[in-house]
This record gives sequence, C-alpha cells and structure tokens, in this order.
Amino acid sequence: MKFSAIFEMVQTMQIGLKFGFPAVLRAIFRSPSLLFNWAALSRVSMANIWVPFGAGSDQDRREEKQKLITPHAHGVVLDLGAGHGHTVNYLDRTVVTKYVALEPNTFMHPRIREMAAEVGFNESDETLLILSCGAEDTASILSSVHAPVDTIVSVLTLCTVPFPHQTIRALVFDILAPGGTLLFLEHVRNDRADAAWWQTALTPMWKRVFDGCCLDRPTDIWLKDLKDDDGQTPWNEGNIWDPKDRNDQETLFWVEVGQFVKK
Ligand SMILES: C[S@@+](CC[C@H](N)C(=O)[O-])C[C@H]1O[C@@H](n2cnc3c(N)ncnc32)[C@H](O)[C@@H]1O
Repeated sequence: MKFSAIFEMVQTMQIGLKFGFPAVLRAIFRSPSLLFNWAALSRVSMANIWVPFGAGSDQDRREEKQKLITPHAHGVVLDLGAGHGHTVNYLDRTVVTKYVALEPNTFMHPRIREMAAEVGFNESDETLLILSCGAEDTASILSSVHAPVDTIVSVLTLCTVPFPHQTIRALVFDILAPGGTLLFLEHVRNDRADAAWWQTALTPMWKRVFDGCCLDRPTDIWLKDLKDDDGQTPWNEGNIWDPKDRNDQETLFWVEVGQFVKK
C-alpha cells in the first residue's frame, strides 16, 4: 500500500476543511445557536466545500457523465443528492420531461435553481422540482412525484445516505418505474484488502468533513446483487464499468460507473 494514496485523502480532508471551516465560523457568528446544531453546521460546511469540489469533480468526470447520463436519462429524472445541480447539464432536454433534484441540504437549493434554469428546467412550468428530504425518505419522494420515476441518477451520493441497504431497496422497488433506468457514478470500496482497510480506517474522520460520506461502501455490489423478496433480480440488464485507466489500483477513492434497467 502506497503512502501517497493515504496522504492524498488526508490532503483532501485538509482542503475540505479550508473551504468549510470559515463558512461555519461565519454562520456561528451570524447565529450563535448553531453551535448546538451539528447537523446544520455540517450542511453549511458541505454547501461551501462543494462549490469548488463539485465543480472540480464535474470537470474531472465530464466524459464519464456524458457517456452515462446523456444517452440514458429520460422522462422524469430523480437526481439523488443533487448538490449544486451539476447533473442537469447532462440531461437531453428533448427526452427528459422533468428534473427532480432531491437535496436535503437547502443551502444548495439556490444554485440548483440557477443551474436548472440555464438549461430550461423551471419550477414555474413544473419541469423542475426540488425536494428537501433525504433519499431514505421514499414515502415523501413518492408523494411529491406522484408516480414512479423513469430515471434515477446517483452521482457520489449513495456513499452518504443513511441505511443504504434499505434505501437502495426502496428506491429501486418503490420509486423506479418498471422499465426505468438507474444510473450511478459512485466511489466504492476498493477490492484490495489493504486499500479497503484504509478506507474504513479513514471514514470516521472523512465523514465529519464531508457531511456523512463513507469511503468504504461496496455500493456497486449492493446494486448488482439486489434481489426482491423472492430472491429474483429486479434488473433486466445491467452494466458496471470502472474507468480502469482512471483508478489507481491502490486509490482510496475508487470510482465505478453503472447503468441498470429494471424489469
Ligand atoms: C458528494 S455530494 C454530490 C453532489 C452531486 N451529486 C454532484 O455530483 O455534484 C453528496 C450530496 O448528497 C447530499 N446528501 C446528504 N445526505 C443525503 C441523503 N440522506 N439523501 C440524499 N442526498 C444526501 C449532500 O447534501 C450532497 O449534496
């Protein structure tokens, strides 16, 4: 295991703190009672961290997103953990009827609105819906979208949702329509035992900086191996690819990209 892979993550946390901490101090100064609201401070911090990190990550992953999202997202698209709304730029406006941006961090909503408007999705004509609940709150999602959605997109979000097994199950079985598509670009557990050990060791610190993000979830495997109550796969077709040339074997930020179509 190369020391540089661990060092890179520690450096990333330091940079995250550099962007998040001043925003937290400003928020406490404006509203001292926030000192006792860790969850709110974490979200203030993440909204600020994700300005440079989100833009950088979007730039870095543009090619993969163009290949994953643009040709496959259609109909009503539910974007899990929309962040500042970068996914909307990959939607083909001729086949996507509505962009549903699920983002529990309300400090990020203004940018989602701006980004979506730039490519023609607006709340005024009901082509944009912003939800403030978490992905795990599938009852609220369903009552807001009224019917199962055609596409679910998750970019770097299933690493953060609480109760990931139950949440994935509910999203696929209750929220995704039959014939619908699930598209994901997620960082996942590295196959190498030593790298996975470091992912788990660093996660308690990492999740403090990045609002609950876990480095060590095998999300790709959970999705691929998903079964219904009768032990049957919900997928008609599935395809996971790791951008091999991009993942260093020892990286602690191993990215997998995949598309699944529901039966
Ligand atoms: C690493 S960011 C990715 C943002 C966006 N998908 C992108 O690629 O730019 C993870 C996002 O998940 C959101 N998030 C946190 N908890 C969540 C939850 N329970 N359900 C859905 N999203 C959540 C965070 O607020 C954050 O915006």
